[in-house]
Amino acid sequence: MCGIVGYIGNKDCVSFLIEGLQRVEYRGYDSAGFIVMEEDSMKTHMKKSVGKIIDLKKKLKNSDKGNIGIAHTRWATHGEPSIANSHPHVSNNKKIHLVHNGIIENYISLQKKLESKGYTFYSETDTEILVNLIESYYTDDIELATKKALHDVKGTYGIGVIHIDEPDKLIVARLGSPLLIGIGENENYFASDTSSVVAKTDDVVYLDDKEIGIIYKDRVIHKNLEDEILEKNVEKIDIEVQEIEKDGYDHFMLKEIFQQPRTLIDTMRGRILLDEGTTNLGGLKQHPEVYDALINAEKIYIIACGTSWHSALIGEYMIEEYAKISVEVEYASEFRYRDPIITDKTVVIAISQSGETADTLAALKEAKRKGAYTIGLCNVVGSTISKVTDAGVYLHAGPEIGVASTKAFTSQVMALALITVDIARHKNMSFREGYKIVKEMKLLPTLIDSILDNAPAIKDVSLKFKDAKNFLYLGRGFNFPVALEGALKLKEISYIHAEGYPAAEMKHGPIALIDKDMPVVFIAIKDAIYEKVITNMKEVKARNGVIITIASYGDEEIEKLSDYVIKIPDTTNLLMPILTVIPLQLISYYIATARGLDVDMPRNLAKSVTVE
Ligand code: G6P
Repeated sequence: MCGIVGYIGNKDCVSFLIEGLQRVEYRGYDSAGFIVMEEDSMKTHMKKSVGKIIDLKKKLKNSDKGNIGIAHTRWATHGEPSIANSHPHVSNNKKIHLVHNGIIENYISLQKKLESKGYTFYSETDTEILVNLIESYYTDDIELATKKALHDVKGTYGIGVIHIDEPDKLIVARLGSPLLIGIGENENYFASDTSSVVAKTDDVVYLDDKEIGIIYKDRVIHKNLEDEILEKNVEKIDIEVQEIEKDGYDHFMLKEIFQQPRTLIDTMRGRILLDEGTTNLGGLKQHPEVYDALINAEKIYIIACGTSWHSALIGEYMIEEYAKISVEVEYASEFRYRDPIITDKTVVIAISQSGETADTLAALKEAKRKGAYTIGLCNVVGSTISKVTDAGVYLHAGPEIGVASTKAFTSQVMALALITVDIARHKNMSFREGYKIVKEMKLLPTLIDSILDNAPAIKDVSLKFKDAKNFLYLGRGFNFPVALEGALKLKEISYIHAEGYPAAEMKHGPIALIDKDMPVVFIAIKDAIYEKVITNMKEVKARNGVIITIASYGDEEIEKLSDYVIKIPDTTNLLMPILTVIPLQLISYYIATARGLDVDMPRNLAKSVTVE
C-alpha cells in the first residue's frame, strides 16, 4: 500500500524521490506526490498526480528543485484517488507539509476539535487532520509540535514532516507502519521500504513504534515520544540493487517464478541436518521457551491472509499428519475478532511475506494478549510481525516485488515443512522417515528446474484459455490448498473468475457449472488418493468439461482422461505442493500477459495490505 520517501542533504533530490517512489510502486497505489524545498530561498515546489508515477514525471519542470523533500504513493482509503486527497498534505497556514502511511482512527473527533478552533479541510483524508493538528501545537519547534500531536493520535502512522521555517531538518515517526532512516555522507534519507534507499546506502536505522527521528544532513537524533534520547543501532541492508530489478525478465513475477530453485536453497540453507535426518531452525531454538512450547503444544493456530493463508492450510496437513498436533488455520481478519480458545498449550504461528499485513498483526497481538507463544514466518527482515513475535523463521526468499506472491509461497511451504520435521523428529518420526524427507528437500531445486524447462509447453497450453470466462481448480489432500492458490493467482492477475475446491466437493455445487466452456485444472499426481481424483475427473469428462491435468511423469493413463497434460516430477507427499504450484503460477502468468494485463501491479491490489 502507501509508500513514503524523503531526503535531506546538499543535492537536488527530485530524481531520488521519484526513483524512491518507483521502487515502492509494487506495493500498490493510485496517486503520488512530492514536495521539495530549497534551503536557501525556502522556496517550495509541489507536484501531485492521479495514476502512475510516470504521470507525475510528466508534470516535472526544470524549476522543480530542492535539497530537502518528502514524497508519497497513496492507496486510497479515506476518499477517492484525486489531487486533493493525494499527499503531501499541507497545514492551513501553508507551512507544514506531511506524508503519511497508515490510518488515523480517531480522525473524526480530532477534526471536530480542530474545526472548533477555525481549521478548514480541503480533502477527505485523515492525513490532512494530522498535519493541522501539528500546526495547532506549533509555536517555534516542529519536533515538539509533532510529538504533541502524535500523543493525541489513535491508529497507525509512518510519517515524514517538514516545516518551511525550519529547513535544516526532517521529522519522521512511526507507529505500526514501517519506517527506516538511510544514513549517507552529509545526506540522509527515510523510506517505508529498504528498496527505496538501497541504491544510495547500505546503512539504515529501523524505527520502532512510538519513536521519532529528527534528521539533519549530517546527523540523526532518535527519541521516543516522551522526549528521551535513544541510542539506535545502524544495521546493514541485506539486499542488493539487482535483487529489486527485473534482471532481463519481462516482469518481476516471471523473474520470481524462475528464481524459485534458488530461493528454496536460501530458505533451506543451514537448516538441514542430513546425518540426523532432521532440521535445525536457529530462530526457534534461540528461544528455548517458545521452542519447547511448540514441541509440546496441544494446539497450533496458524493465522494468515491471502496466499500465506494457503500455505498455512498446507502447514495444517503437514503438522497434523507428521507431528500429530491439532492445527487450526484461521483468516487473521476473523481470528482477531473471535474469541479463540487459547491455553498455555497453544502456540500461534503467523505467516506473512511482508510482515506488515494489518489483520495478521492485529490477530497476533490478540493472541499475545491471551497468553499464547507466537512464532512468525516472514520474508521481510526487520518487519513489524517479525519483531512482535516471540520467535520466528525468516524465509530468505529475497524481495518479492510482483504483487501476486509466488516465491514467497514456496518458501513458506518449505519453512512449514522444516518446522514439521523438527517437531515430528522430537516425537514419533523415525530417523529413516526424517532422512527421506530432508533428502527430498535438497532435490527440490533441481526438480523445479525441470518444470521450468517445460515453460514453453505450459505457455502453449495456457494461451488456449486466454479468453476463458471461468476456471475451476481441483485437488485433494496436500494439493487442495494448491488448487485454491492456483485459482487465486489466476483471478489476481488475469481478472478471470476462478475457484478452487477439494476435488470431491465438486459434486456439491461446482459440477453445475461444468460444460464445454469450463476449463477444469486437476492436480492428479500419483499419491494415496490418486484413484479418487481419477473418479472426479471422469465426472467432469462425462459433462464435457475441458480438463487440464498436472500429473506425474510416466502416468500414461491420465492422457486418456485429459485434454491437456502438464507432467511434473514426483517428490514426497508433504513437499509435493512446492512442485504442483509451479505450473499453476506459469499458467496464470501466461494467460494474464496474453490478455495484455499488468501482472506485476494488478488493478486494485496491494502487495502489503497495511489497513484493515
Ligand atoms: C496481499 C497480497 C497477497 C498476499 C496477502 C498477504 O493481498 O496481494 O499476495 O498473499 O496480501 O500478505 P502477507 O504479506 O501477509 O503474506
